[in-house]
Amino acid sequence: MKPINVKVIGTGSYVPEKVLTNEDLEKMVDTSDEWITTRTGIKTRRIAAEDEATSDMAYKAACKALDDAGLGPKDIDLIIVATITPDMFFPSTACWVQEKLKAENATAFDLSAACSGYIFSYAIASGFLSSGTYKNALVIGAEKLTSILDWEDRGTCVIFGDGAGAAVLTISSGDSQLLAYDLGSNGAYGDLLYIPGGGSKNPATEETVKNRMHYIKMNGNAVFKIAVNKMKETVINSMKKANIKPDDISLLIPHQANLRIIDALRRALKLPEERVFVNIDKYGNTSAASIAIAFDEAIKEGHIKRGDIVGFAAFGGGLTWGSAILKY
Ligand code: ACO
Repeated sequence: MKPINVKVIGTGSYVPEKVLTNEDLEKMVDTSDEWITTRTGIKTRRIAAEDEATSDMAYKAACKALDDAGLGPKDIDLIIVATITPDMFFPSTACWVQEKLKAENATAFDLSAACSGYIFSYAIASGFLSSGTYKNALVIGAEKLTSILDWEDRGTCVIFGDGAGAAVLTISSGDSQLLAYDLGSNGAYGDLLYIPGGGSKNPATEETVKNRMHYIKMNGNAVFKIAVNKMKETVINSMKKANIKPDDISLLIPHQANLRIIDALRRALKLPEERVFVNIDKYGNTSAASIAIAFDEAIKEGHIKRGDIVGFAAFGGGLTWGSAILKY
């Protein structure tokens, strides 16, 4: 594919203050620090305050990204929030963020692709920018996953956490580009990872609440196997489109779902450990926020410098998957 002339000019992230450790979880469900650490790589995760919504976290990450970019809210003409935990069905979380920022010149909407949502949003924003429709886009991944967790289901409640990450994208005249991306989905796998209740199919009733239908349901084992294959396949597709080899990638930022999935991907691509970013130990799986937070941390910690080739790779509910390769 033809590279897209977009540049990341600022990033920011926010995670809530409250830390939930594996030891805390041992007191809540039948689990152990040893099981969680060896099966997932997670040690702690952040938990949003009761009165802290997804848009509040997204707003805080966005403010930092705007500061970093040296832009004001009025300079932004597009806001996309990738999330599966919106504040409400509608208005979109992106509209709430627009209001909090007073970004009155922006068009704002949400994107639902679960953990792949940030990459989908990044690609869509880049398309808008390259067509000249918009000049400066705010791409945000934000989740309050603890609001949809069943704290009695040890198969899911130990995995997820809350947080938000944001990037400001603009049209680039220099070296920085989105070299390629690859997106995919398969609805046949929809019921491997989903929330059955609360939507138009099963609107909220006393019965749906009693049956715990408003919580994440996941067939972790099946998702795991598909994730490893699809992440590898999508990164290879993006590398082909960008005409690069794994060796050219300075840093790969995979969705932080499970350290074993990240390791399997790393081995499949024959990348050394130091070229694959990992922070799952601190935050767990923050779905659409995961790559957004990791990207910001990797830049701020000096793992990414201008001119580096950076890869993103994700999979999530849908099932969806995607990858992107950019020249930072
Ligand atoms: N503590 C202790 N034991 C547990 C726990 C726990 N928290 N959870 C499950 N177990 C038990 C199971 O009951 C099972 O016991 P059994 O053998 O007696 O039946 C055993 O551990 C093995 O269970 P599996 O589900 O086979 O464990 P697995 O190795 O697959 O790990 C996990 C489970 C961590 C969920 C893994 O499958 C995984 O990470 N899958 C991918 C999930 C994912 O990444 N989803 C991301 C998308 S998120 C999004 O889009 C919102």
